[in-house]
Amino acid sequence: MRLATLSAPDDFDAWRDAARGFAAADVPPDDVVWQVGAAPADLFATTTDTTVPPPVPGTLSVPRAFLDLARSVVMAAEPERFALLYTALHRLRREPKLIEDHADPLVRRLEVLAKNVRRDIHKMRAFLRFREVADDDGASRYVAWFEPEHHIVRANAAFFVNRFASMRWSILTPELSLHWDGAMLSEGPGAAKGDAPDGDPTEEVWKTYYASIFNPARVKIGAMLKEMPRKYWKNMPETALVGQLIAGAQARESGMISQSREAPTIGDNVAAAWAALRDEAAACTRCHLYKHATQTVFGEGPVDAAMMFVGEQPGDQEDLAGTPFVGPAGQVFNRAIAAAAIDRGQVYVTNAVKHFKFEARGKRRIHAKPDTGEIEACRWWIEQEQMLVRPQVTVALGATAARSLLGRTVTIGKERGRALRLPDGGEAWITVHPSYLLRLPDPAQKEAEFVRFVEDLKLAKAAVGG
Ligand code: URA
Repeated sequence: MRLATLSAPDDFDAWRDAARGFAAADVPPDDVVWQVGAAPADLFATTTDTTVPPPVPGTLSVPRAFLDLARSVVMAAEPERFALLYTALHRLRREPKLIEDHADPLVRRLEVLAKNVRRDIHKMRAFLRFREVADDDGASRYVAWFEPEHHIVRANAAFFVNRFASMRWSILTPELSLHWDGAMLSEGPGAAKGDAPDGDPTEEVWKTYYASIFNPARVKIGAMLKEMPRKYWKNMPETALVGQLIAGAQARESGMISQSREAPTIGDNVAAAWAALRDEAAACTRCHLYKHATQTVFGEGPVDAAMMFVGEQPGDQEDLAGTPFVGPAGQVFNRAIAAAAIDRGQVYVTNAVKHFKFEARGKRRIHAKPDTGEIEACRWWIEQEQMLVRPQVTVALGATAARSLLGRTVTIGKERGRALRLPDGGEAWITVHPSYLLRLPDPAQKEAEFVRFVEDLKLAKAAVGG
């Protein structure tokens, strides 16, 4: 038996170094015990060789996608995560394409863990609430309590530092606390909910703010409740009011409209989270495509849209404009949605891959199809967009979009024209990509396919609100 000790539950570097050493020495996964913190006194005293083989530089190269996956999985609450990752690493030596095999049960399990971690990271960003208190020197400090499901607090530290750089704040969680004094970030021990302020003026501000905007004409109650799992309600002052609000909302509706114009809305809150996400995506380096593209082309449209459209990737013109579907395919798209009575201003439009992939031919940039690794790397963004917008219906335009949404390869001809269920409860509708129509040489066929495309869009639209 070998024992690998990691200093913290999210200690990716220690896991990677130990795992590299074990893999280079071909230590079978069953022979490794992974633990966080010091070993219980004599548990391994007689049975364990605690010498971790040192990493052997250059002997093991693994796909970048595996390292990205491992970085997320290490933060999962799942106690087996280190062992599962090492098993995958050990297999990778003989099965170099393992990580692309999404049907493999181990790969699937790791992907689910990574997805749950990413979701938790996002939840912390979207739902954490600060309450104002006075520090010893009388200055304001903002304190928040948050209970993550996974070990994601450190991974979110930079986000909060960037977002609230000019405030002094503390984030308390059961595992650790983060403190920012405007210049330096420090870490402290875990805390209890009682350590965080409660019922202070900031809380009152939040309550008033939510009570005044809780107007069913502007906020979808169902969407709000879906978006905030019950687990979070207990820490959110505004959600303490949800029951009352639902009961009273109808009666107060007319009187509240003027107030709600001034007050920020739940929609504004989601819009702020969306803007933060878009800003983050602008600096995306999750795959190599950012190196040659002009910019990240993020999704656009209302954050409370009931319909979302997902294309493949920005084209030449989108890359320059920074807006999806503005080039030739965008014109076909605009014509088709108009024919299906869909208002582009009311829908959210995005792409599976956010950077333009092309081959340079002289001065021309010729579209190149994104590969599976690029689609997978970019899925992070589309999942976040989905989580924020929560569309009832998502239309995948073409095979790349369908693959990104469903996580598997689909045949458009087989799947178009019917609803598929997405994990978040929304519906996916699959249809062709507008550029498919552009490529058809025969005008009669082009017209017939356009009509079919519009029929698909009409069906998807009819599913909204159904
Ligand atoms: N094709 C796409 O898939 N998306 C765009 O934004 C433009 C062309």
